[in-house]
Amino acid sequence: MTGKRPTKEQRERAAALADAIRHHERKYFVEAAPEISDAEFDALVKELEALETECPSLRTPDSPTQRVGGEPLAGFEPVRHDVPMLSLANTYSEDDLREFDRRVREGLPGEEFRYHLELKFDGVAVAARYRDGVFALGATRGDGRTGDDITANLRTIRSLPMRVDERRAFEVRGEVFMGLADFRELNARRAEEGLETYANPRNLTAGTLKLLDPRLVAQRKLRIFIYGLADMEAAGFATHWEAMTFLSGLGFPVDANRFLCPDLDAVLTTLESWREKRFGLEYETDGMVVKVDSRPHQARLGATSKAPRWAIAFKFPAIGAPTRLTGITVQIGRTGVATPVAELEPVTVSGSTVSRATLHNLDEIRRKDIRPGDTVIVEKGGDVIPKVASVVLDRRPKGARPWRFPTRCPVCDSELVRDESEVAFRCENVTCPAQIEGRIEHFASRGAMDIEGLGTKLIEQLVREGHVHDVGDLYSLSLDDLVALERMGELSSRNLLASLEKSKEIPFHRVLFALGIRHVGAHVARVLAEAVGSIRELERATVEKLTMIHEVGEAVARSVVDTLRREEMRALLDKLRRAGVNLEQAGERGEKPLAGLTFVLTGTLSAWTRNQAADRLRERGARVAVSVSRQTDYLVAGEAAGSKRRKAERLGITILDEDGLRKVLEEGPPA
Ligand code: IVH
Repeated sequence: MTGKRPTKEQRERAAALADAIRHHERKYFVEAAPEISDAEFDALVKELEALETECPSLRTPDSPTQRVGGEPLAGFEPVRHDVPMLSLANTYSEDDLREFDRRVREGLPGEEFRYHLELKFDGVAVAARYRDGVFALGATRGDGRTGDDITANLRTIRSLPMRVDERRAFEVRGEVFMGLADFRELNARRAEEGLETYANPRNLTAGTLKLLDPRLVAQRKLRIFIYGLADMEAAGFATHWEAMTFLSGLGFPVDANRFLCPDLDAVLTTLESWREKRFGLEYETDGMVVKVDSRPHQARLGATSKAPRWAIAFKFPAIGAPTRLTGITVQIGRTGVATPVAELEPVTVSGSTVSRATLHNLDEIRRKDIRPGDTVIVEKGGDVIPKVASVVLDRRPKGARPWRFPTRCPVCDSELVRDESEVAFRCENVTCPAQIEGRIEHFASRGAMDIEGLGTKLIEQLVREGHVHDVGDLYSLSLDDLVALERMGELSSRNLLASLEKSKEIPFHRVLFALGIRHVGAHVARVLAEAVGSIRELERATVEKLTMIHEVGEAVARSVVDTLRREEMRALLDKLRRAGVNLEQAGERGEKPLAGLTFVLTGTLSAWTRNQAADRLRERGARVAVSVSRQTDYLVAGEAAGSKRRKAERLGITILDEDGLRKVLEEGPPA
């Protein structure tokens, strides 16, 4: 090992920092009860990283700094499961549960026993081994006997402890998943960046755990719930309840929703109460698992080669309705991504009528073997977005053929090209009307140029009638042009022109985002604007230069350089420049107008998540704290702000709504 040898003080400081970080990781990721702000937490990690860089011998594999590092692997090594990872028998019916209960009682004649009832998490099963209290190995289930070594990927899951206070070797089993809020945020960001979206959190989780680069995995915010020990006997626990309580005490994330039931009736009552309640959870569950609680009883009941006889999964029947898939159409987005859409005979699902649903991508259609003419089950999940859940194979019409992705764009008839890296098909004709309309819609949207009065119908008309070929043409629209359009009165025309005029003042980073360059979402646009300063400079930049900017990767850099080099883009930028749209970053680069001010965020914002808003504030030098105190300068209160708002009012702290926040971000604090 090279580098400086640590002094005694450095060793002690590193140990204290690691302990503090582990403590706060547990508070934040496992108990959801943080004691310090994100920035304070980051400062601890930074300090430890600095110490470890100076004295590399301090950098142990279980150091909290080691969650994200690691080089990409060439492939996964196989891992043998000494205790096989079994599957679970499952059912949708109460009768089957009664039958299960009868068999259990038959197997335990005259014995008293209890059931342990817990949620069934909809994710990916994994095993995690600990030796000497340190996380030593992580594996997928594989075929149940042999899985893949995914140690580096599991290390990135912040709620999985890297060190616990238990010296005996043991192995926990659990489910890796992605929370619904993180899933939605990721999908929204992908849509914003012009990339295709993922069908559900489970597929995304499975895909993520298979990535060979742990640095990419670390960006995905996976979570885990532990639901068992590989070998309860060895660990000396008499009941599952006791084992779970112990693991929870060690700092493992164990879901708090678990129940001891004296008999089957109690099981059924609890199940019933979760039928609706599950939609309030911020992760997906597809049912509940009934387990005989006592370990000696479990051992007596034993297992088949596939599943234990002492447990069964009860799956909640989804709220869905059958209907006919009349066809699959393809929708072209602003970056040309072609998304397949299910055209359905209208059907009512939990109170609303559904006639279309996104099918996301070709893989999703193949996975579910969806064919035009099929009877399909349409469901609304916890996220309310309707989806085609499955096909009723018994009702498949004779001769139904698998759907083939069209080879030509349904709007402009140019060839659809399959993108090797991304499973997406794309229309590459930048003058495709569907893309033009999509780009204008994006340009005018709230987070971008915020042009009021420019709705979908109007955009369609403007493009169809040849008034607008790109977003630059919006600025040459005249009152006469607008008034001549169907359904446009003089007042709405004047309002639209005023709103276009106003948009010329929008800060540069939002203009850059509004251009709709693939991979350039709102956040990346800000990073680029701050680092590069103007469109002129960006036009001159090379891929190499751009990738040197923190947070700008190869895909972003390439996309920016390629797009800005295109003839049409140059023409468009000329129009914007002539119209007087802001193509430069105002003020000194790196200026921190909010330095020295402390903000607290509460409630729901409509345009950003709280984390995004906090990032924006920090970029401008603000401190973002978790709780309101006398040190707070501003409380940003979104919808449904509660106790923090009341406290701020009591302390006389300035309260900003979302518009107020936007103003402070753009213009700095009021003088
Ligand atoms: S116990 C020997 N408990 O469901 C029993 N499994 O269908 C092993 N799962 O592979 C499983 N939530 O990935 C258990 N609370 C829970 C679970 C759970 C989800 C998954 C697990 C397993 C699959 C079986």
